Amino acid sequence: MGQPRPARNQSAWWRSAVIYQVYVRSFADGDGDGTGDLAGVRARLPYLAELGVDALWFNPWYLSPLADGGYDVADYRAIDPAFGTLAEAEKLIAEARELGIRTLVDIVPNHVSDQHPWFRAALAGGPERDLFHFRPGRGEHGELPPNDWPSQFAGSAEPVWTRLPDGDWYLHLFTPEQPDLNWAHPAVRQEHEEILRFWFERGVAGVRIDSAALLAKDPDLPDFVEGRDPNPYVDRDELHDIYRSWRAVADAYDGIFVGEVWLPDSERFARYLRPDELHTAFNFSFLSCPWDAGRLRTSIDETLAEHASVGAPATWVLCNHDVTRTVTRYGRTDTGFDFTAKAFGTPTDLALGTRRARAAALLSLALPGSVYVYQGEELGLPEVELPLDSIQDPMHFRSGGTDPGRDGCRVPLPWAADAPYAGFGGDPWLPQPADWPAYAADRQVEDPTSMLSLYRAALRARRTEPGFGDGPLNWLPAPEGVLAFARTDGLLCVVNLADGPVELPVHSELLLGSAPLDADGFLPSDTAVWLRA
Ligand code: GLC
Repeated sequence: MGQPRPARNQSAWWRSAVIYQVYVRSFADGDGDGTGDLAGVRARLPYLAELGVDALWFNPWYLSPLADGGYDVADYRAIDPAFGTLAEAEKLIAEARELGIRTLVDIVPNHVSDQHPWFRAALAGGPERDLFHFRPGRGEHGELPPNDWPSQFAGSAEPVWTRLPDGDWYLHLFTPEQPDLNWAHPAVRQEHEEILRFWFERGVAGVRIDSAALLAKDPDLPDFVEGRDPNPYVDRDELHDIYRSWRAVADAYDGIFVGEVWLPDSERFARYLRPDELHTAFNFSFLSCPWDAGRLRTSIDETLAEHASVGAPATWVLCNHDVTRTVTRYGRTDTGFDFTAKAFGTPTDLALGTRRARAAALLSLALPGSVYVYQGEELGLPEVELPLDSIQDPMHFRSGGTDPGRDGCRVPLPWAADAPYAGFGGDPWLPQPADWPAYAADRQVEDPTSMLSLYRAALRARRTEPGFGDGPLNWLPAPEGVLAFARTDGLLCVVNLADGPVELPVHSELLLGSAPLDADGFLPSDTAVWLRA
């Protein structure tokens, strides 16, 4: 099962880790019912070890009615029976650890499922109402929602309040099945610290924090006024106190956090990464950046500067379960398009997108910090345009059907080209496109030019070359449209985003390329290489 792994600075593993995101429902189906499960993940651990990842981040695997793919949690201490059992999760954590792979779980603190015992008790009129945001409505008969906050689902004009038969309304920034918790209540804070301990006790190495900048609300719940500071529900100062006490919990277990913090203001973003708060947060500015040398360089520089100000390592993310898959995004030919938004029927050049995604993989894996790889990204899977009647994502329905939602990046993985359902297991909960077998892992393993082979080679090189990962980056002089930088130990990365081929620095040894050099030894357009000077 692969080569023994060279030791790293163990206490700071997370500063340069490659973390693989597992969307359990779509990863691998062990019991043949069409839904991915923990048995499926356990069976594929050798694949993940061979790929060379340092850790796995699991999207929510807890008991859930799956109104939002598991981001509606009914019990944070139980595994959903569709995925397996708690005992199985413990086995999985231990088995992964045996292979040198750590585990991160995904905690959803902003809201719970409407099936959570607290919310059911609140609906029954109990004192649990104080754990949520219940309010009378406005208007003569309370028929209008208590405020005008916009939905957190892109393209949705639906209100964030739902009225109950007794006349009161409750707040939900996402779907009505996801009532927001009242973080000003001490019981909410206490419960979440216990949930963190529960999972750290079970051997997890870290926690991803869902919607991390949304938990705290202005107690008056005032209307939203564009540009008014502070915002009534985003990035409020009270959050930092919450995360400081979370940090104390994590420190007792040597655990780490990665926050889902979507904030345009880099100074505000960095505040979450102060030494006594979160260890890391997802870097969405890089993900949202178009394939343009100048803009990527600016994004990289700003990212490194904002992280340096607090001593935190950056994270590099090209894809996740919420955004359009990388090869499709980079292949979009209508340039005016919002780079992360989803839409029906966008013109896409998949060959171009794949070429760029390969180069982007080598770029992000050469940058200082940790890297996230979303399942299927290593297979070069494109976004799928699903038949309308198979879409399940609430984002689609809450947009009134105008937004395709996020299922297109959640289609179950192809493992074996010749097996039924491309080796996923049973008949998948989202249909796979006809060409899915062409992307199957077993086929790509055999093909040295495949995306999987590129990822395996890159992760192997990253492990054996300590100069990649955390540490300094120095830009090198380069022609217009070319990104060139040096890391330590003479390692160089050059990415050509210009229209034509460019010359490489002389006296360098080629370690890895996203595509072959041309006949003259030049670096072709949309290609990245790793070199040793
Ligand atoms: C985060 C998750 C997303 C989910 C939302 C509500 O943005 O990544 O999938 O729908 O939070 O929990």
